[in-house]
Amino acid sequence: MSQVLVISGHPNLDASNTNKVILNQLTEHLSDVEVRRLDRLYPNYQIDVEAEQAALVKADVIVLQFPFYWYSIPALLKKWIDDVFSYNFAYGAKGDKLKGKELILSFTIGAPEEAYTPLGYNHFSIEDLLKPLQQTAYLTGMNYVKPIYSHSMVYIEGVYNKLEEVEARARVHADRLQAMIQDLVQSPEKRIGKFVSQWFAQFDQLPDSTDSFTRYLSSDIQWSVPEGTFSGHDGFRDWYAIVKRTFKPDCRHQIEQIEVREEGSHYTVELKIRLLADTYLESALQGESIDLLVNEVWQVDLDDTAITIKNYRVEPVN
Ligand SMILES: Cc1cc2nc3c(=O)[nH]c(=O)nc-3n(C[C@H](O)[C@H](O)[C@H](O)COP(=O)(O)O)c2cc1C
Repeated sequence: MSQVLVISGHPNLDASNTNKVILNQLTEHLSDVEVRRLDRLYPNYQIDVEAEQAALVKADVIVLQFPFYWYSIPALLKKWIDDVFSYNFAYGAKGDKLKGKELILSFTIGAPEEAYTPLGYNHFSIEDLLKPLQQTAYLTGMNYVKPIYSHSMVYIEGVYNKLEEVEARARVHADRLQAMIQDLVQSPEKRIGKFVSQWFAQFDQLPDSTDSFTRYLSSDIQWSVPEGTFSGHDGFRDWYAIVKRTFKPDCRHQIEQIEVREEGSHYTVELKIRLLADTYLESALQGESIDLLVNEVWQVDLDDTAITIKNYRVEPVN
């Protein structure tokens, strides 16, 4: 099960009418969720960058939960991003720690929907106003999931809305957020996508033992690669021995495209993979550095707990 991290950016959650309801409902109904209340942790805005980065690294799904303030995020959450998304963590040559994680912006908005239209008093759409956060996700390699937000969430006694109305809207918001998280965590596409990333991360290391691969291969796997067609676990081991003699460890498999399709009882996974590797002098590739783009097609079985590859085909892109 994936780890869900919720960053609460409300500067005073005790005084909240809606964010508080959303967070309570989420923690009640989801397992494996960590909520970090920035207002409690950092009342003086001095962020513990190491602790925050450690929490982010563990997470697969990151939710930023906040009230919309001045068309953006509250200052406390902005400070958190400024401090925590640092060079070589979130961006820069080694800044890949957030890559592949799902980012959900979940927030409450005071004004009604019609205010955020060209003729309304806020003129711009919410999506327009979110662009800097969307680009932050792109730059850091996170998947920018469709944001979840709710309007008319401000409550000022006798002036704006009724308390029970905004609380009811907050509960509906929490239901939507919860459904989205569950979908992200449990959908076959996501499970397979995560598995593919882990699979290639293993391959990059080229470990001596083949166990971490064969445990995911059906016993009658058909393994078709430019070196030939290999069958079963023994066949895979024969092929892997060729690979080990050719490529040096710490190579890189970049997943450039991935498409997952349900086909009857199994899933077809189509991939475009770029392999960047150094080779051994005594191998057929004679010490050449490789930059190779290949198409891969996998057939995969999925049950509640396990993923099994039944068929694996690799072809160079011409
Ligand atoms: C400092 C501040 C700035 C705000 N800016 C906006 C805004 O730009 N647009 C808007 O629609 N509502 C704005 N609001 C209203 C809040 O979005 C609303 O009160 C909040 O979402 C309710 O969440 P809570 O009940 O958890 O406090 C602002 C409120 C405050 C206190």
